[in-house]
Amino acid sequence: MRLSRSLLVGALGVTAVLCTPATALAAAPTPAPSLYRSSPADSLRRLDHPSGLRIGTAVNTDLLASTPQYAQITAQQFDSVTAENVMKWEVVEPQRGTLDFAAADRLVDFAHANKQRVRGHTLVWHSQLPSWLQATITSTTDAAGNRVDTSSLPASELKALLKKHVQEEVGHFKGRVWQWDVVNEAFNEDGTPRQDVWYQAWGGTGYIADAFRWAHEADPQAKLFYNDYNIEFTGPKSDAAFALAKQLKAQRVPIDGVGFQTHLDTQYGFPDLQANLQRFADLGLFVAETEVDVRSTLPVTAAVQAKQTSYWTQTLQACLAVENCISYTAWGFGDAYSWVPGTFPGQGAANLYDEDLAPKPQYTALQDVLRTTRAPHRAESGGGWA
Ligand code: XIL
Repeated sequence: MRLSRSLLVGALGVTAVLCTPATALAAAPTPAPSLYRSSPADSLRRLDHPSGLRIGTAVNTDLLASTPQYAQITAQQFDSVTAENVMKWEVVEPQRGTLDFAAADRLVDFAHANKQRVRGHTLVWHSQLPSWLQATITSTTDAAGNRVDTSSLPASELKALLKKHVQEEVGHFKGRVWQWDVVNEAFNEDGTPRQDVWYQAWGGTGYIADAFRWAHEADPQAKLFYNDYNIEFTGPKSDAAFALAKQLKAQRVPIDGVGFQTHLDTQYGFPDLQANLQRFADLGLFVAETEVDVRSTLPVTAAVQAKQTSYWTQTLQACLAVENCISYTAWGFGDAYSWVPGTFPGQGAANLYDEDLAPKPQYTALQDVLRTTRAPHRAESGGGWA
């Protein structure tokens, strides 16, 4: 239950406690700090102004609260934020029917105080489902090696659950989220639809159009995205996402954009990212790089460091070159806090800042790109504030 509400007046972050019983006063949240005003002139967020592109980061809200240097970099360097985890279903509905938006609200308040836009991540996904829902699911593998998830809940119940989740979460943040990743990772590498429980319940990919429609009803201003990884490379998965986007547009489903996660690895070649961004943009969609990081096998040699820097440079250049590319988000910024070592054993060094939160050459490279690239100015894309 929320007993108080932060009213953020201008950039000052004044907290007004409304109708709050005396016992709750001590627990009133401190206003989110406005740290962006002292942002240096060479910060990413200030250098990005001429292009109108928003440069963002995923945010770990525990670190935001515990580590002042982390909060300072978040506020001073970036003008868009994504919740790394706290808007995922497992966090916002830990028990069935019990909603908890406290951590996400703190991030949104921080963003408001620091004139940042918010990317909402993510509403419909096969992963990080609440344990009460995950407990109903068993996973097998089909002949092609793709995962098949089956829930013991009837299709009608799964459908009602997803609808309620989308409506409640988008409704909660109405007017405060710029872009929503409505559906995340709906395809396998071979381009076949991922057979998760939503696919099961709908008997196909019809859940995708429904989720976009529900999200649009709940917040007509928010920009609604389909988001996936490895669609930076031309191939069956990117083609499948492209066919989906085209079909949704043709059916007048309220999709506004496609997010390219852009989790890159220097052991592979650099993807044909700009061409892929452009072909989706040519459908009349916004595009975004939503989770950029560049990982390598550790330890990083000088040659690998140079390759990482080159990949970072090229990811930003690709976005700047495509007028409809409206945001560029790094998946966190400190190597000590990255998801990479836990997910890809032996790999790391994927971020812009090192283990001690000192900027690495890839950070300087992004500054250089922003300083030297004459990019078309992005049209105001509305939705959310800041
Ligand atoms: C990751 C987070 O970074 C981790 O902290 C968490 O344990 C698992 O999820 N694609 C996505 C993100 O869309 O939500 C994932 O984030 C990384 C891959």
